[in-house]
Amino acid sequence: MKRAFALEPFSRDHNDGLHLARALREERPDAPALARAAWERELADHFAEEERLLGPLAGEDSMRLHDEHRLIEQLLGELPGSCLALGQALEDHIRWEERVLFPAIESRMTPEEAANLALETLKMEHRRWETCPSRAEIVQHRLDRLHPKA
Ligand SMILES: [Fe+2]
Ligand SMILES: [Fe+2]
Repeated sequence: MKRAFALEPFSRDHNDGLHLARALREERPDAPALARAAWERELADHFAEEERLLGPLAGEDSMRLHDEHRLIEQLLGELPGSCLALGQALEDHIRWEERVLFPAIESRMTPEEAANLALETLKMEHRRWETCPSRAEIVQHRLDRLHPKA
C-alpha cells in the first residue's frame, strides 16, 4: 500500500535506519560510530516525534512503540558489544512499523488527523535537510508528482 503523505518523512528516516541496521548486523568496524552519529543526527528526534505524534494514533500498539524505542536506546548505550543485537532490534522495529503500525494508523486516522500530522512531520522533514540536503530534492520530486505544474 502507498504510504500516507503524513507518514512519508518517518519512512524516509527508515531508509537510513535500515542501512544502519545492516552495518550493525554485519558488525562492520565503523558501525558503532555510525550508530552514535545517527542517534545525534536523526534517531533521537525520530523516536521522540513518533511517540509524540503517532503514540496517540497507535492505540494498543503505542506500548510496543515505546518499549522498542527504549530497548534500542539501551542497546545503543551498550555498544560496541551490542552491535548484532542492536542491528536486529532496529531492523525488526522498522519492519514492524512499516508493515503493521503505519498501515494500522493509515486505516484509522481521520482526514483532519492526517492533515495535522502532515504539518508536524513536514517540520521534522525540514530539520533533516540541515544534515541531509539530498532529502530536499527527494521531497521536491514527491511534491511535483502530487501537484504537477500546469
Ligand atoms: Fe520507531
Ligand atoms: Fe520509526
